[in-house]
Amino acid sequence: MSTPATALVVANPGQVYRRLLGYARPWLGTFLIGVVGMAMFAATDALLAYLVKIFLGGAFVEHDPRVIWIVPLGAVSLFFLRGIGDYVSTYFPASVGRRIIKALRGELFAKYLRLPVSWFDATSTGEMLSRLTFNIEQVAEATTNAVTVLIRDTLTIVALLGYLFWVNWQLAAFALTLAPLISWLIRRINSSFRRYSTRIYHSMADVTRVAKESFDGQRIVRVFNAQSQQERAFETANEANRHSNMRLINARAMSNPVVQFVAAIGLAGVLYFAISQVQTRAMRVDDFMSFLTALLLITAPLRRLVNVFGPLQQGIAAGASVFAVIDMASEGEGGQHSVTRARGDIEYRGVGFTYRDDKGPVLHDIDLKVPAGHTLAIVGRSGSGKSTLVALLPRFYDAASGSVRLDGVDVREFALANLRDQVAVVSQEVVLFNDTIRANIAFGHPGATAAQVEAAAEAAFVMDFARELPQGLDAVVGDRGALLSGGQRQRISIARAILKDTPVLVLDEATSALDSESEQHIQAALARLQSGRTTLVIAHRLSTVERADEIIVMDAGAIVERGTHAVLLARGGVYAQLHRMQFNA
Ligand SMILES: Nc1ncnc2c1ncn2[C@@H]1O[C@H](COP(=O)(O)OP(=O)(O)O)[C@@H](O)[C@H]1O
Ligand SMILES: [Mg+2]
Repeated sequence: MSTPATALVVANPGQVYRRLLGYARPWLGTFLIGVVGMAMFAATDALLAYLVKIFLGGAFVEHDPRVIWIVPLGAVSLFFLRGIGDYVSTYFPASVGRRIIKALRGELFAKYLRLPVSWFDATSTGEMLSRLTFNIEQVAEATTNAVTVLIRDTLTIVALLGYLFWVNWQLAAFALTLAPLISWLIRRINSSFRRYSTRIYHSMADVTRVAKESFDGQRIVRVFNAQSQQERAFETANEANRHSNMRLINARAMSNPVVQFVAAIGLAGVLYFAISQVQTRAMRVDDFMSFLTALLLITAPLRRLVNVFGPLQQGIAAGASVFAVIDMASEGEGGQHSVTRARGDIEYRGVGFTYRDDKGPVLHDIDLKVPAGHTLAIVGRSGSGKSTLVALLPRFYDAASGSVRLDGVDVREFALANLRDQVAVVSQEVVLFNDTIRANIAFGHPGATAAQVEAAAEAAFVMDFARELPQGLDAVVGDRGALLSGGQRQRISIARAILKDTPVLVLDEATSALDSESEQHIQAALARLQSGRTTLVIAHRLSTVERADEIIVMDAGAIVERGTHAVLLARGGVYAQLHRMQFNA
């Protein structure tokens, strides 16, 4: 379950960060508008300290009567400017952030669609979903919220420091000596944030996975009364998530008081020297109060700066987990060879295949030829490699040795999309999308006309039940086709294959989930579908393979018998034995 994408440590945070910011580049202008707002916001802080000086100097030192107007008006205008700066510095960077999220999410989804089948075999879809929703959402933190705080509050601190130096540079220099200590503290806190963030992703992925499995398998959960078992699994993931989050919250909660306390020690020193200067009249009281105001104003942006590192690290960890997937190799485009419509000659030449090196070969030395338009039936025990054999044809997997050929050309030489255009697969697990029957038949054929869809529906006996529905072909099938029976779903998938109209057809136990009455319907639909196409049919029930041009019997990844129904029966081998067992049953 652990893929490289979820490696525990983010290898190079700086690199991930630069790459995230790369997504912001097209909207640099928008972001810069935000920076202008940040500068406005920062300037108002320093001006506020200056206003204190005007107020105290004018009212108590120089007794200037104009302060009664200047100070209140100044305060109102300052906060007006500050409001504008605040708005601009929130809105524009956030709009860049949402664009980054959208771009990244789109890229990740597109990648998921193109990753090799073997990757899907090894990864939980819950984990994938979690990355697509939760992780990517965190990226906004790193790319914009954090950047906004970083820039805005650094500018504020710089402006306030500049003001401090202007008022009294010796005191300001003294205050600044604390900076290295504070930055060291922040770096320490930082690294713990990163560790906890990565753990949070893992636990969130687990929460999603357990939930998704329970929803997908809701009927199984019910009939096995496994609610409490699933609840316990969920509780484990949920608790791990809470625990990791609390570690992060703890680190975050600690960081503030620690940094503030160190700052307070500095403040005490500054106050000591400032008061002694006031007492010796080296410093005026309005300067002193204004200096103090600026110093106190620094603490708020400083606190925000310290707090921003948590979300920033979270965003970087999230970005790393997304890039890890985006950087994986897609299944590729295949070769150069391309045909409008293949004849449909299929050949396996010395084909061997292994899913995982530690599990040994699943297919070995498969040799077979199916001339165009013929039907090959594949029978054998479950686990003997039948599905694997046919999966090599549309290149869900590639042969480890030997080659699979279509019209004499290695399937790896075909452009992948072109190869898959030649093959239709109808399997036991029918995949329907939560849409109308019509849209499900036309899946992958956005250009199909209504007449073509209806013809396919008619040929696959979909019309037989669609006619009874008030909305006909426009009836919605429900989540994964839940509103239809197994036989009805299967007929839709056959109509889909009829519409695709390929020279090669693969039927992988297409009828084994059905009762015999629906099977009869489907057999008729399949017979129509098979005519004129090269067909590989994997069948459970031998009655459905009797008419095949050739039958192969597989066992443990090898072909153990081959011939027509009559020849195999006469031989009295494995096939004859299987036949006898079914006949008796
Ligand atoms: N995606 C997979 N990853 C690893 N092993 C697999 C995978 N699919 C099937 N297998 C293994 O390969 C063998 C053949 O499986 P399969 O071709 O599905 O058999 P059949 O269709 O004849 O029942 C089985 O031992 C099965 O456990
Ligand atoms: Mg199978």
